[in-house]
Amino acid sequence: MNDFPLKNNSFETGVSGIREVFNYLKRYRKKTFVLKIEDSLLLNPLFPMLMKDIIHLHDIGINIVIIPGIRTTIEEKLSRANISTRFVNGMRITPAEALPFVKLAAMEVAETIISHLAAGGANGIMGNWIRARAIGVSQGVDYEFTGCIEKIRSDIVSQLLEQNFIPVIYNIGFNSTGKSYNVNSSHITCRLCQDLDVIKLFFIGRDEGIPVANLQCPEGIETHPSGIFSNLDLAQVDYLLKHNRDVLELDYREYLENALEATRAQNGVNRVHIICGTREGSLLQEVFSSMGLGTMIYRNKYAHIRVATCEDVPEILHLMDGYVKKGNLVLRSEAELNEQITDYYIYEVDMSVYGCGALYRQDDETGEIGAISVNPSYKSKGVGRGIMEFLIDLGRKRGLKRLFVLTTQTSDWFYNFGFIQGTPADLPQGRKARYNNERNSRVLLLDL
Ligand SMILES: CC(C)(COP(=O)(O)OP(=O)(O)OC[C@H]1O[C@@H](n2cnc3c(N)ncnc32)[C@H](O)[C@@H]1OP(=O)(O)O)[C@@H](O)C(=O)NCCC(=O)NCCS
Repeated sequence: MNDFPLKNNSFETGVSGIREVFNYLKRYRKKTFVLKIEDSLLLNPLFPMLMKDIIHLHDIGINIVIIPGIRTTIEEKLSRANISTRFVNGMRITPAEALPFVKLAAMEVAETIISHLAAGGANGIMGNWIRARAIGVSQGVDYEFTGCIEKIRSDIVSQLLEQNFIPVIYNIGFNSTGKSYNVNSSHITCRLCQDLDVIKLFFIGRDEGIPVANLQCPEGIETHPSGIFSNLDLAQVDYLLKHNRDVLELDYREYLENALEATRAQNGVNRVHIICGTREGSLLQEVFSSMGLGTMIYRNKYAHIRVATCEDVPEILHLMDGYVKKGNLVLRSEAELNEQITDYYIYEVDMSVYGCGALYRQDDETGEIGAISVNPSYKSKGVGRGIMEFLIDLGRKRGLKRLFVLTTQTSDWFYNFGFIQGTPADLPQGRKARYNNERNSRVLLLDL
């Protein structure tokens, strides 16, 4: 199937917007989101709002794990204590005299987050679930009290999620003798995404997403009008990293590298979102609408076509509604759809309905194609073609000799699949009787 974006710039309002939210609610309940939240947001006036939105997600049944980034708070504490540290390969080297300040910063930030959660009636819990060890000396550099992850007790984190807690995982790890290390919180985030069954990872900071400017980009890249990438698949991320070594700012490079890391493992997360925490509602918009605001990196486009079930009926009616009003499609009642539901097929991406179509058997040799509709947000991305090719193939597999379709405004599109113009006289007997002369649809035929 062709490539298509997994979110776009359509904006659904009113009832259709509410339906869209319901659809997402069903999809995300009991699923786990990991949120890495930068401490530079803590003092922003919109931070309490962001925390409230997180609590709303939790209240509707989404499991939430929070990993605070603490870089800003560490910087403040170290500079007040007149201690300077250096970074190698994006990692802070932690001398012994800096470690107590790192611990203090980690606790302080985690506590602030927990108090926001408590204020919203949610139970945050922080704990020591990271087994760490010293990085030691690597390529001649002694990392001192900077550690790497040996193991995360993700079993404990899972249990806490089941008990409705929001685990807040701070970045201090302990070795088997109780010695503590400063562990990079992005590494904790990625590792957790590999260990737990996580469906979305959010990096929430001050960046709107990854800006396109000055970067050498692969073909077919999707961008926002604001100048950031809207969607990237893993091959595109790989390309950006390889071709922009010298121009990619460190923060953006880290986002891309972390996204690769979090998605790559067999159990890795499917979607990584980089969103701006100082923009009101950005988290909710990213979760509940096809119009995300930040950059999304996705592992796979899980696109497939499946037979519809009665549960899909409201979605199919919604999908067809706009086209019925425009006169492209005939109105079908809910009862009619329920009765014929096994003739309908759904083009689905990540459990989201992108389009539908039907193949009704008329007699032993003839089938009717109908109800072909593609969500306007995903038009011209090959979804319609995917459905048609599937239905034509299905007709052949069922041993049909001929397909027909009645259409008012889409004949040119059907010609692409080899249909030719016929007349109502070409229709099978029973269908001829039901031909609506007033609608005056064109009859198109395809020999299989
Ligand atoms: C027609 C429809 C199914 C196409 O779905 P889609 O996923 O956008 O189609 P594809 O991506 O496979 O093909 C897109 C191409 O079809 C063309 N196309 C779309 N609607 C067309 C029409 N009514 N007539 C002719 N060509 C059309 C587009 O211009 C596009 O061309 P391009 O690739 O050169 O840009 C979709 O537009 C739709 O749902 N239309 C309303 C419902 C309808 O008319 N259904 C058929 C009645 S049974």
